[in-house]
Amino acid sequence: RDMDNQPSSLKMELSPMSQLSSQDALKAQVAHAALAYVQPHSLIGVGTGSTVNCFIDALAQSAIPVQGAGSSSIASTQRMQALGIPVVDLTDVQSLSVYIDGADEIDGHGYMVKGGGAALTREKIVAAQAKQFVCIVDQSKRVDVMGAFPLPVEVIPMAVPQIIREFSALGGQAVLRMREAQPLVTDNGQYILDVHGLKLTEPMALEARISQWPGVVTVGIFAFQKADICLLATPDGVQTLRY
Ligand code: A5P
Repeated sequence: RDMDNQPSSLKMELSPMSQLSSQDALKAQVAHAALAYVQPHSLIGVGTGSTVNCFIDALAQSAIPVQGAGSSSIASTQRMQALGIPVVDLTDVQSLSVYIDGADEIDGHGYMVKGGGAALTREKIVAAQAKQFVCIVDQSKRVDVMGAFPLPVEVIPMAVPQIIREFSALGGQAVLRMREAQPLVTDNGQYILDVHGLKLTEPMALEARISQWPGVVTVGIFAFQKADICLLATPDGVQTLRY
């Protein structure tokens, strides 16, 4: 998943092309399965990431007409508009029939870690407006206890040192996410901390706790906005997990 950030020589060593293409095939498979949750002429919510990109492409190719899509990022908005999918302004919409998004990790309760693509704040907002969260992942994302994937947290820049100290007191090492030697700036103009070393044994309690720290915009734990359904792509087909 982090291969895009690696130098190309390393990329070849760590991920033979066959492995990359089989993961891409799983993403395409699960993205296609998600079309079954799109009611024709309804308003849907669309997440962000490479799996969702496959879903956007599949939706554009399908004959399913949607009234509109609420988008969780500038990247997804641009991709949908380029393919002719109407994007709606969420402030004009009361509810969405379904929200379809990927995840970085998902546990046995449907709790998720998200934000690897830095879109967690808008993802949580769109998810809150949807009647049903359908999470689309390949089997590499399914874990028993979340935390191996560094927890993304969107923060107000001036709070970064204090929030790093708060995480340190919890036993986590928070690292400012960088792009081209500068802090990555989100669609909302804020920064991202990636927190290593946490074991998310009580995701809901931890989400509530971190969300209260001054300067935290959004923590990438999706326990209050958990998945209702997970479509899990495996080499033997797509499994449907309900929570
Ligand atoms: C975006 O901010 C994330 O929450 C994504 O849902 C997550 O990173 C999954 O992305 P991939 O489908 O690219 O793995």
